[in-house]
Amino acid sequence: MIYVENLRKEFKKTIKEPGLKGSLKSFVKPKKEIVAAVKDISFDVNEGEILGFIGPNGAGKSTVIKMLTGILSPTSGKCTINGKDPQKDRKTYVKEIGVVFGQRTQLWWDLPLTETYTVLKEIYEVDDSRFKKRMSFLNEVLELDSFINSPVRTLSLGQRMRADIAASLLHSPKVLFLDEPTIGLDVVVKDNIRKAIAKINEEEHTTVVLTTHDLEDIELLSKRIVMIDKGSKVFDGKITDLKEKYGQMRELAFVSPDENALKALGYADQFGLSDDDLIQEQDGTSCKIRFNSAIAPVSDMLSYTLSKINVKDINVKDADIEEIIRRLYKEGVE
Ligand SMILES: Nc1ncnc2c1ncn2[C@@H]1O[C@H](COP(=O)(O)OP(=O)(O)OP(=O)(O)O)[C@@H](O)[C@H]1O
Ligand SMILES: [Mg+2]
Repeated sequence: MIYVENLRKEFKKTIKEPGLKGSLKSFVKPKKEIVAAVKDISFDVNEGEILGFIGPNGAGKSTVIKMLTGILSPTSGKCTINGKDPQKDRKTYVKEIGVVFGQRTQLWWDLPLTETYTVLKEIYEVDDSRFKKRMSFLNEVLELDSFINSPVRTLSLGQRMRADIAASLLHSPKVLFLDEPTIGLDVVVKDNIRKAIAKINEEEHTTVVLTTHDLEDIELLSKRIVMIDKGSKVFDGKITDLKEKYGQMRELAFVSPDENALKALGYADQFGLSDDDLIQEQDGTSCKIRFNSAIAPVSDMLSYTLSKINVKDINVKDADIEEIIRRLYKEGVE
């Protein structure tokens, strides 16, 4: 369905020397530098698959999505989606894809939502009976009913995201690109959006490429992920394999009355954790440790900590994406 081959994007950046003199100089004679935001990335996506495309801030996710959707042209390499080149076949291609950029909206700000959909119906040449059916399906999956007549500017972020996803699906595209569809949303709303995406994929076999830096999005939606960092691909495979290999780190955070709590606790000796498997920080009374839960189980860490000192506000978190990337590099990126 989607083939991406050595895709690369370089941007020209103006470099400014420090100070006022530097500002003037860069204004009169700007110094340019070429920066590669996406460095020769290759991957495939099968029809009907949901691919999680993940990476930390600035990794190049949006840039890849922009090339796949034909908004940006690649510096080199190529991508074909459903046999089409996003830029060369632009006219027919746009009818086959849906795109949502979580940080921006394609809806008309001052118009009621229904009117945006009517305009999109005309643009995509969806006939009346198809449109009616489509709206009732989207209504059901995305629960648009309660705000469909409100102007877009009055919608909450979660409602707007649902409305945006509906807009991108109005013409029944084969492929849906979602760039950070859950950004800034609270847990309940995130969950609704994830369920809607899963349902659309299930019922219509829509191929979905979804970028995020929220690992939970991916765990619930896709079995396979492509992870990128600083423009390069660092992992392509099953999310379960990634977690098994690199996701054993947990973060334990608590507030202790003792400013030398971590020294006194001596986790390294107690659990036989090497420097790679234990990272500790204490700032005043707040302590944060990251540890390998395959060596020191979470329950043992908790009960040991609680038996030794009086702590407030203790909590344990899963490894985040930055942590997984740190470990990927440590063990060598293939
Ligand atoms: N139009 C542009 N001109 C110059 N540099 C750009 C442009 N667009 C993106 N970049 C740079 O390319 C890099 C990748 O940006 P991109 O937006 O693709 O990252 P991202 O993975 O989507 O990050 P985020 O998680 O913050 O959305 C960044 O360093 C960014 O500053
Ligand atoms: Mg982005």
